[in-house]
Amino acid sequence: MSLTIDILTVLPELLDSPFGHSMIKRARERGLLTINVHHLRQWAVNEYGQVDDYQYGGGAGMVMMPEPLAAAIETLSKEQPYDEIIYMTPDGPRLDQPTANQLSLKGRLLIICGHYKGIDQRIREQYVTKEVSIGDYVLSGGELAAAVLVDAIGRLIPGVLNDETSALFDSFQDGLLAPPVYTRPADFRGAKVPDILLSGDPKKIEDWRYEQSLQRTRERRPDLLEGQD
Ligand code: 6GU
Repeated sequence: MSLTIDILTVLPELLDSPFGHSMIKRARERGLLTINVHHLRQWAVNEYGQVDDYQYGGGAGMVMMPEPLAAAIETLSKEQPYDEIIYMTPDGPRLDQPTANQLSLKGRLLIICGHYKGIDQRIREQYVTKEVSIGDYVLSGGELAAAVLVDAIGRLIPGVLNDETSALFDSFQDGLLAPPVYTRPADFRGAKVPDILLSGDPKKIEDWRYEQSLQRTRERRPDLLEGQD
């Protein structure tokens, strides 16, 4: 199983570094994940490289034109159709762990990064199959949001994580926040690691961790427990 992600952007430089480290680097090296960043200017409407224009009805801010986006999507789709064509936008549904889980099981994704005031509405209606926001705040473009999405997805591809880094114990993976963690020394300037963790009793440790997860979730994110009993 492997995943190919194409990213369409007017600022490819912004995506140079995020995929070259740690888990995503490992996923790519193992051939489990392929990431291709495409410059939208390749599909510009004229020799000036134009891809945006003023918005109809007036108002500040440029809008990304439909022709370059449609041409890019059609060209890139030709090799093989996409499972999802994703548009990064603050007015989309907020990214969550179940969405990342689902996307990590796909074979081929296209992510469109909006810039300026966003993309022409007709592209959203005619091509985009899924819209994603990464939270209730506005970024200057979709690139950093796309990097977040790719990281969240990429680490979940089967074979990327090992036992030590297993996603099974992540916050949100069971609908709860992760428990506190400790490493050496057992006594840091008088602050001690909880005794249970030094007990060597796996069952007790598991129970403790679960209780801590529940308690943390109740305190910090009671919304995650709503609708559960
Ligand atoms: Cl996906 N894009 C932009 N421009 N801003 C955002 C976002 C996306 N998600 C949250 N804020």
